[in-house]
Amino acid sequence: MGLFTKKPIHSLLQDANDGEHSLKRSLSAGNLIALGIGAIIGAGLFVRTAAAAANNAGPSVTLGFVVAAIGCAFAGLCYAEFASMIPIAGSAYTYSYATMGELVAWIIGWDLVLEYAVGAATVGIAWSEYLNKLLEMFGLRVPYEWSHSPFESLTDAAGVHHGMMNVPALFIIFMLSLLLIKGTKESAVVNGIIVISKVAIVILFIVLGWGYMQPANHTPYIPPASTITDAQGVTHNYGGIWGILGAAGVVFFAFIGFDAVSTAAQEAKNPKKDMPIGILGSLVICTVLYILFAHVLTGVANVNDFRTVGKEASVAYAIKTYMAGYGWLANMVTVAILFGFSSVILVMLMGQSRVFYSMSKDGLVPKLFSDLHPKYSTPYKSNLVFLVLVGGFAAFIPGDIVGDMTSIGTLFAFILVCAGVWILRITNPEIQRQFKVPLVPVVSILGIVVCGAMIAGLGWTNWARLGGWLIIGLVIYFGYSRKHSKLKTD
Ligand code: ALA
Repeated sequence: MGLFTKKPIHSLLQDANDGEHSLKRSLSAGNLIALGIGAIIGAGLFVRTAAAAANNAGPSVTLGFVVAAIGCAFAGLCYAEFASMIPIAGSAYTYSYATMGELVAWIIGWDLVLEYAVGAATVGIAWSEYLNKLLEMFGLRVPYEWSHSPFESLTDAAGVHHGMMNVPALFIIFMLSLLLIKGTKESAVVNGIIVISKVAIVILFIVLGWGYMQPANHTPYIPPASTITDAQGVTHNYGGIWGILGAAGVVFFAFIGFDAVSTAAQEAKNPKKDMPIGILGSLVICTVLYILFAHVLTGVANVNDFRTVGKEASVAYAIKTYMAGYGWLANMVTVAILFGFSSVILVMLMGQSRVFYSMSKDGLVPKLFSDLHPKYSTPYKSNLVFLVLVGGFAAFIPGDIVGDMTSIGTLFAFILVCAGVWILRITNPEIQRQFKVPLVPVVSILGIVVCGAMIAGLGWTNWARLGGWLIIGLVIYFGYSRKHSKLKTD
């Protein structure tokens, strides 16, 4: 069997019903939309929006959201077709195994670690930022050294502070991994409560902040093209079209997660109907909220704030500084964000363990990743391994770096999914598709172009990081996975 061996669709469907090892089918379409929104609204909106305005696009970060949403809509349609056709756990990994063969499937599965595991670490780091805002309400804070990575430093009146380890980020990853081990159903209920409060504060900020926008902060809306160097010494294209594309790549992070719904396909009650509704429904709701939110945020505070004093926990900063009398809103936002980020981390950790569950069933990663807990039926050993890995990233790497790695890794996976839908239409036209993407291959091509443009906007440091990550993955594939693949030994 070769590198391009494909997993037959009928065997995929058989795996889905594989008796004692199958996951429980307990999620409805409503649960899936909640799961999607739970995964979607998070650090991308509350942290990365300000970073993209500061380093890339100024107020035109809203246009970055539009570009990112267009790319996601194309990729989302492709995800929905796949999910309605192959309703089992594993997301883009599973789809590519059926369409483009084992090597590409491995590359995607490995790449999805960037999306889910590294993404969870990014949100954990953002959680730590807002935790300090919460503690400030009580006159406390975790010292800089113990809430930042060793690659960050700060100079203030007391001198230079060097980060050592991000303890709060590690703490939240630890707690949520334990919750996940207890089971998906329970986690979905907790998630539902959090989703409602998260959406409520986004709407409140838009409505109450609208009257506090200053036209001067929105002028010029698209800054003229130039370059800017951030606190870590990295140079970015600022303003103009490249600024908008760069911002799109950065805030793309805010959309990551709607595809995580597809990783729960094996736990959906009626996957063929519910998956497209879950994926596209959550995407549409979030896009509208994001554009309005970014418009208000960049109107209330000035872009210079996001480069200096308002860099961390930027939304709470903007409210406290510019919306007199709304201190209570800043406090409420901080609390809701802390819960909101938790639900994002939860879904990402779940997505990660589900992808490795599928890869383990196929023999590409060790069996421990598919061992289920005797009582809770969750892949608990996998959850524990990722607790260590994700916790390590969260504790020791800066948020900007893991954030952009997450974006670029996910964009790359989206491109492969867009291509996969097109390929499968040609190679397996006979398979029944409950949901069909209109205008294939036009939609696939547009998805590839828009996601490719965002990758271009993210710049060469991120291309190099993605390349390095993929090389490590290939070493593992040729050293382990290829020899242990079930497709070879069956
Ligand atoms: N979309 C998720 C967030 O913004 C990953 O945090």
